[in-house]
Amino acid sequence: MDVQTVLDKILNGVTVVTSKAGSKINGLTIAWATQVSFQPPIVAVSVGKTRYTHNMIHSSRVFAVNILHEGQVEVARLFGLQSGRNIDKFASIPYETRVTGAPILKDCLAYLDCEVEGSVPVGDHTLFIGKIVDANIKADKKPLTYNPDDYW
Ligand SMILES: Cc1cc2nc3c(=O)[nH]c(=O)nc-3n(C[C@H](O)[C@H](O)[C@H](O)COP(=O)(O)O)c2cc1C
Repeated sequence: MDVQTVLDKILNGVTVVTSKAGSKINGLTIAWATQVSFQPPIVAVSVGKTRYTHNMIHSSRVFAVNILHEGQVEVARLFGLQSGRNIDKFASIPYETRVTGAPILKDCLAYLDCEVEGSVPVGDHTLFIGKIVDANIKADKKPLTYNPDDYW
């Protein structure tokens, strides 16, 4: 059995992980975001080393996890199917900032604003471990579940 076919059975939500570098902001769609500690609450996101956002998180040491609601497949496609190297993904997306300055989508289910506490290289990705410095619920909706048919 192909290992990836087995891994695809793990149920994931869909988030947009954002960061900043100087005056530039960007974000990418991430299915691999999860809580990794209860006390204190810590979140980890797995970001491909080739992603433009990877370098931004690496240099700024901040990121925000924007948890998408079930009506936001198009937002996940916008942030997940093209690179911020070539386009401004925020051209039509209203956002605000909270503590770290990483963009928080005005329309999302909830967000976690994080400072990087550590990072671990894992294969072709880096696991960025985030101390949560601000968090809130923004909509009374259900989270968006990752379904490959929505994207590929
Ligand atoms: C639904 C979905 C889930 C994704 N999950 C991840 C992920 O967990 N980690 C990752 O590095 N890339 C993931 N990607 C791919 C990135 O979002 C994609 O490569 C993006 O264009 C990178 O943007 P950037 O170069 O502007 O950072 C996912 C894409 C989609 C559509």
